[in-house]
Parts: sequence; structure tokens; C-alpha cells
Amino acid sequence: MKRIIVAIDGFSSCGKSTMARKLAAEVGYVYVDTGAMYRAVSLFCLRNGWMTAETMDEAAINAHVGRIKLEFRLNDSGKAEMYLNGENVEHEIRTLEVANGASRVSTLGAVRRELVRQQQLMGEKKGIVMDGRDIGTVVFPEAELKVFLTASPEIRAQRRYDELLGKGEQAVYDEVLANVVERDERDQNRAESPLRKADDAIVIDNSDLTPDEQQQRLRELFQQKISE
Ligand code: DC
Repeated sequence: MKRIIVAIDGFSSCGKSTMARKLAAEVGYVYVDTGAMYRAVSLFCLRNGWMTAETMDEAAINAHVGRIKLEFRLNDSGKAEMYLNGENVEHEIRTLEVANGASRVSTLGAVRRELVRQQQLMGEKKGIVMDGRDIGTVVFPEAELKVFLTASPEIRAQRRYDELLGKGEQAVYDEVLANVVERDERDQNRAESPLRKADDAIVIDNSDLTPDEQQQRLRELFQQKISE
């Protein structure tokens, strides 16, 4: 059976990871969450004091980016978890502070070049589903299937808000929405590999789709590509 690269890009809190992870499990491909890699770099910079809520020491980050070892290891349930220099950081990287840091650290050219290099190695043998912001445009411009996932900022903020409350965290909807809008703005307007749809990507707007409908659409696109 032909093995392909599936590139899924789109805005934050769109449900890209859930959709990508499910497809990978269904078809026996490796799933790579590139957002987790930028989050791990963010955590590393926060811990070392090279980044705070207000500042970012670009020179220090550039000098140390080669020292950051990132790996995905499967847990007992078969879910890939992020390891930073040998430490499981899957839980720590999911906070708002780390997400905001990731959005900032991902604007740096040296960080992007290093992570893109690692991501390209992971996809050398194909049979991979990778999600992020620049997968179809920069990491794998030759990917056989490219999907650009989108939904309105209000719907994404509502989903993120529900998720936070579900985890027992405090949240104010307007603040979550403002954060979604701010991250969209930074992702789309940074100089290095801004988020944009690849010309040959297929758009899925999931504002009005159920998770099952969305998965079915992706499954059909995948089947179509591997039988071409
Ligand atoms: O998908 P996420 O929320 O986990 O991503 C965290 C941040 O990393 C997000 O603000 C954008 C950035 N990112 C990126 O610039 N390129 C990628 N391929 C993946 C994520």
C-alpha cells in the first residue's frame, strides 16, 4: 500500500491534533504534534529565564537551541508524549503560559530552522500525519495530502473555554477569545513561515461539523489520495 505524508495546518484550538491523531491511529501512521515541540522549546526558555511574560532573550535562545533534545515516546496507552532532554513534559507544556511562550518563541528563525530539520527527518520514510502551522508550506511542501483546518475565533474560544472548565481551571470567555485572536494574529503575521494555507491544501471549516463528520471527511480525502 502506498504510504504518504499527511500535512494538517490551521489556527490554534481548531481540533487539529485530535483529528490528526485519530487518522494516524486508524491507518497505522506515526502522528507528530509539532505544536508540542514549540511548546517544549518555550518551556525550556521559560525555565532558563530566557523568556518571561514580557521579555525574550533572543541571543541566549539562538545560542542554546541546538542543545534542546526533543523526542516523542509512546505511553502505556500508545499515546505519543513529549520529552524534553529526556524528561516527560507532556503535562507541563499544556498551560496557557507555555502556549503563549510557544507562540513567541516560534517567531525566531533559529528555532524554526532547527525544529523543521527534526520534523523533516521524522517524515523521511513517509507514513506520517503531522499537524502544525507550516507543515504543508515549509516542512513538507511535497506532502501528498494537505488539509487546512479552520473555524471561527468565537467557536474556537468557546471550545477552549469549555476545555479549561472541564479541567477544573478558572476561565473568562472574553479573555480566552482575546488570547485566541492574539495568537492568530501572531501566527499569521510573523516574518518567519507565517501561518497560511498552501495553494494545494484542502480547506475544512469545522465550525458547523461534528467531530465524526470532520473525521469522515478527512478519511475520504486520505482514501482518495492513497488510491490515486
Ligand atoms: O498547536 P499549538 O497550540 O500546540 O502550537 C503552539 C504554538 O506553536 C502556536 O502559537 C504556533 C506555534 N507553532 C508553529 O509556529 N509552527 C508549528 N508547526 C506548530 C506550532
